[in-house]
Amino acid sequence: MDDQEIVERLMAEMTLAEKIGQLNLLAAGEGLVTGAAQHTPLARRLDAGQAGAIFGTKSLESARAMQERALAGSRLGIPLFFAEDVIHGHRTVFPLNIALACSWDLDLIEETAAFAAAEAASEGLHQVFAPMIDVSRDARWGRVAESPGEDPLLSARIAAAATRGFQGAELGAPGKVAACLKHFVAYGAPQSGRDYDNVSLAWEDLLSIYLPPFAAGITEGAGSVMVAFNAVNKMPMHANGALIEGWLRGAAGFDGLVVSDYTGVKELTPHGLGAAPVGVARALHAGVDMDMVGEDYLSHLPTLVRDGLEAPEAGLSLSADQVAGLVDRACRRVLTFKARLGLLADPYRGLSGVPAAPSRRDGRKLARKAAARSAVLLKNDDLLPLSSSAKVALVGPFAADRANMLGTWSVSGRAEDVVPLDSAVEALTGRAPVVAWGADIVDEPWLAQRLNVHGVTVESDPRSETEKLRDARAAARASDVVVACVGEAKEHAGESSSLLAPEIPASQRRLIDALAETGTPLVVVVFAGRPLALGTLSDQADALLYAWHGGIAGPEGVADILFGAAVPAGRLAVSLPAHPGEVPLSYDADPTGRPFPGTFAKFRTGWLDLSDDVKRFPFGFGLGYGKMHYGSPELSMTEAAAGQGVQLRLSVENAGPGEVVETVQLYASDPVARVVRPGRFLIDFKQVRLSAGERREVVFDIFADQFRYPIAPTLEAVEWVRDPGVVRLHVGPNSRDTSSVELTWQT
Ligand code: NOJ
Repeated sequence: MDDQEIVERLMAEMTLAEKIGQLNLLAAGEGLVTGAAQHTPLARRLDAGQAGAIFGTKSLESARAMQERALAGSRLGIPLFFAEDVIHGHRTVFPLNIALACSWDLDLIEETAAFAAAEAASEGLHQVFAPMIDVSRDARWGRVAESPGEDPLLSARIAAAATRGFQGAELGAPGKVAACLKHFVAYGAPQSGRDYDNVSLAWEDLLSIYLPPFAAGITEGAGSVMVAFNAVNKMPMHANGALIEGWLRGAAGFDGLVVSDYTGVKELTPHGLGAAPVGVARALHAGVDMDMVGEDYLSHLPTLVRDGLEAPEAGLSLSADQVAGLVDRACRRVLTFKARLGLLADPYRGLSGVPAAPSRRDGRKLARKAAARSAVLLKNDDLLPLSSSAKVALVGPFAADRANMLGTWSVSGRAEDVVPLDSAVEALTGRAPVVAWGADIVDEPWLAQRLNVHGVTVESDPRSETEKLRDARAAARASDVVVACVGEAKEHAGESSSLLAPEIPASQRRLIDALAETGTPLVVVVFAGRPLALGTLSDQADALLYAWHGGIAGPEGVADILFGAAVPAGRLAVSLPAHPGEVPLSYDADPTGRPFPGTFAKFRTGWLDLSDDVKRFPFGFGLGYGKMHYGSPELSMTEAAAGQGVQLRLSVENAGPGEVVETVQLYASDPVARVVRPGRFLIDFKQVRLSAGERREVVFDIFADQFRYPIAPTLEAVEWVRDPGVVRLHVGPNSRDTSSVELTWQT
């Protein structure tokens, strides 16, 4: 019997209650609570066949025990599947996703996902709530930490790479897990950066910025999708049939499982879409197959199937038979997902005879490489790499920190696995650095208090700021070089952690001022979960490394770069603002009608109260230790018909003394189009490794489809078009510093 036959046989035998039970996705109660705590009587649900899946189990043993109980409680022996938030690694915590995105290294991203999958699978997990592929341009939003950054093309490639890494060649392979693309969709564009807030945007932007990563994950065969909390253009995603059944299953051809986010179905009521059963009917009708935690499907579907629903206020009229049909549709999708995971053939699949976890030693090696590849060198006035004989002072709240290095959403990580920066430097150089604390990790007392209420322990230094700054200055003066370790605590970023002003905290800026005054060469390393506005810090520092929260080996990766054991190769996957008031910010902003050649004295394209000289670091920016020369780009032809292959070639040369990993970036612009198009947009990139003095030719294939864009007065009336005429191609080391050529499409 093939999978579909098994599913159909079960469907024919199942009672309505059994079908509804399959739609219930419960929390194991062993992990993180990210919404209103739901006190589910888990054992009772298992005994009654009222659970389809469980997330948040913490060991193979507990998953197996739950499976035994579920099988005993299921008349037809239908197993559960087990899921978990495996966001940037599992026990082996890799750098935050935003950091990994800065590596622009798709093989590395695939490898970290594959490693996480192997660790997760060894604990009986079948599905991970990852990859998180919300394009995000607003540093106020705390979940930038989990995101692939601001660019749709880079995000789409990351979505594909991570999906491949998690799932391997097919769902159900040993040591692999099903991916769950999330959060569908535009969760990364909340108004004012407030988490969970709604999104209003042009359909064109939805189609060309926020949907491409989902399309890429689906093409790669992602087994599941999680729906987002927010509304898009007035329709909450948990009731958004046009996007779920319409775009996702229709246009994008997704045929897997759609799960709600945590109590997302219940949240339709406060969204204003009606109390249950209306909200429940809307979610099921829209295509949300499983209800995470809220149990609204379990509570209300029996009545809905009995009575149907007349809800003129919701524009919804469903007969009892129609609701029954929707329950069947959702249940069939849950069973099909289980069949694809191999669970219907063997209910203990993934729970017995499971491959052992991969070696943690190998994981640490990979995590260290990933950390070094993710850090972005923003400035280097001939200071780095440091000599291992230099007398180094590490100053600031993260100089010897472990817990924050894990970053947000590291639910299975352990702080004791982190080697802090002071130890990493000592291990690498054989010389213990001087360590001095300059500030509290959370220096705003109100924030510390707010986090403490939620059970988060925030470290603080009891000394006065004057005392701490005195120690910091003394440490700097007594050293050859001072490394300021600043940034934000992991609890500053993540879910429900929006900030009004994403910038380096004030007391840490005072610390930098004090260190800069000493005249000791100053390296600033920023550990953060989001792009923090740097203000004047980049002028004060002689060298500046943006290291994010780098996971268990984050500080070791930083030490490798500081002392030249690894070459810096990271490139910003998000623009770094100069001032927090600039966000949302992205390199590909649509052009306006101004500047114009006028005489308006006060005219500015930026802000009246922000100096023109401030430094912001553009998308794609990052330095290495080499000295790169880019040759002029040349096209194989300057006029082409659609369908003709065009190549853009240029030579890149490393004129420096050390190795370079260079990410050559190709952008395009379309100066005349039917609607406003982005000022420029990334169409391709290539990573090349160049040894000292090496020159290479880099070749990009250009094709007409790269210039297609949507015109969408409504979501139902989307037209993808491409126009003949001139386009510009811009190539360079980042989105700003490029050289251009023109290509004319004759057709
Ligand atoms: C809520 C978050 O939005 C989602 O990303 C996560 O997977 C679920 N909680 C489960 O923890």
